[in-house]
Amino acid sequence: MATIALDPRLDKKAADFIAQKHRMYVDGKFVQAASGKTFPVYNPATGEIIAHVPEAESQDVDQAVHAARRAFDEGPWARMSASERGRLIWKLADLLEQNLEEFAEIESMDNGKPLSVARAADVPLAVDLFRYMAGWATKIMGHTFPISFPGEFLAYTLREPIGVVAQIIPWNFPLLMAAWKLGPALAAGCTIVLKLAEQTPLSGLRLAELIHEAGFPEGVVNVLTGFGEGAGAPLAAHPLVDKVAFTGSTEVGKLIVKAAAGNLKKVTLELGGKSPAIVFPDADLDRAIPGTASAIFFNHGQCCCAGSRLFAHKDVFEKVVEGVSNIAAKIRVGSGLDPQTEMGPLVSEEQFQRVTGYIESGVKEGAKVEVGGKKAADRGYFVQPTVLTRTTPEMKVVREEIFGPVVCAVPFSDADLDRIAREANDSIYGLAASVWTRDISIANKMAKRIRSGTVWINCHNVFDAALPFGGYKQSGWGREMGAEVLNNYTEVKSVVTAL
Ligand code: NAI
Ligand code: MG
Repeated sequence: MATIALDPRLDKKAADFIAQKHRMYVDGKFVQAASGKTFPVYNPATGEIIAHVPEAESQDVDQAVHAARRAFDEGPWARMSASERGRLIWKLADLLEQNLEEFAEIESMDNGKPLSVARAADVPLAVDLFRYMAGWATKIMGHTFPISFPGEFLAYTLREPIGVVAQIIPWNFPLLMAAWKLGPALAAGCTIVLKLAEQTPLSGLRLAELIHEAGFPEGVVNVLTGFGEGAGAPLAAHPLVDKVAFTGSTEVGKLIVKAAAGNLKKVTLELGGKSPAIVFPDADLDRAIPGTASAIFFNHGQCCCAGSRLFAHKDVFEKVVEGVSNIAAKIRVGSGLDPQTEMGPLVSEEQFQRVTGYIESGVKEGAKVEVGGKKAADRGYFVQPTVLTRTTPEMKVVREEIFGPVVCAVPFSDADLDRIAREANDSIYGLAASVWTRDISIANKMAKRIRSGTVWINCHNVFDAALPFGGYKQSGWGREMGAEVLNNYTEVKSVVTAL
């Protein structure tokens, strides 16, 4: 094994956790992979190895699924009252909150994001999500129906847990994505096999310790570390899994759908995006410029809803591009643990290659780099915040999800909202959009015309546990969060009694 390099700025708790021998969580026990294999975890700010975690494969997946199956079919979980389930989820939220600083440090170290962001966003949003979902445990219910079939009947529906759920998550918000998935499934009474992203397994493994400490019955939550093909694929295909919930690339989303076909397990998908941010000439530019800059640069552009296509009316285009470029040029890029840092490294060598490759392809096809466009340090996976102009609608940088701090700025001269919307909607994706204007009529007309799961008006990247989030078109199936997500984890049963 290569030597482990830990950052001296970490507090002892986070450092001790990262340095410990990592195990997965299956059937209430912390276990190695059946093969004994492990794989390395990297610090994206340096490229150094910081830990090794078990490499789950089919056999481990099978054990975890059987544990979840037993816990669902036979365990105390199914008989537990909704109130007890809610209390356990709430307890998990409390434990997470008590360990907020440690989780923020683990997340920053593993993913590269600024510690201040993990502290202010990732961890508290995960705590909120668990609390919000704890409240739902006691409020999942059916209806009664005045049916007209001849005779006298009592007809009602029951909303029941869907069963054993496979959850596969990405690396951009490792803890928060785990919370988005676990919270509603637990509230609904499902049992779970969660596969963490191979790039960022550490906060999920620490969360497994808190799940154990909170006292969830064995087998209710199982947490695996492993790769997509080795662990994700057999999990998505497993015949004893009733449902798979996936967040990640549209490409893998399509593979999940195929894998699920064997036993027709239910599928929900939260996939990519190419979200437009549309600035009208009357917009308050003091808000729209920092707002659209943050729409793309937050989390280094590694957000499925990143505002990666910036449309600005020709009357304000130059001002907007200049403003966003000035912000980009001033963003302090550095290690996530450095308190001065505003943008950390991309998550991995692979993402670094992908993002810089997109910038090169844009330039080759004729785009102009207004600012950025380069590697931002000698080591680590740093990319400069980048603004591209003079793109055309056919270019790869305009059509494909880059998932990095790269925005394509495009002027529009139209006054016709239908035509503006058509351009904004010219994408296989439909995850989110933002509209910047002082005119509430334009704002709300645009909100109706845009084909995406979220439209923000004079803001971008506003999330809440209460608010459904998900995609139209190839951005996905189903919604995360809100009451809506409970549909992902429940079946509806109609019960009719002849009186
Ligand atoms: P990915 O879609 O390959 O990985 C996401 C998760 O799926 C990981 O846990 C991975 O292990 C798993 N996975 C991969 N192949 C699988 C398979 N055949 N069966 C089951 N599970 C599988 O995404 P990746 O490679 O990390 O990033 C590639 C691109 O995907 C990014 O550049 C970005 O465009 C997009 N992406 C979108 C995200 C979103 O939030 N919608 C999050 C992460 C990536
Ligand atoms: Mg992949």
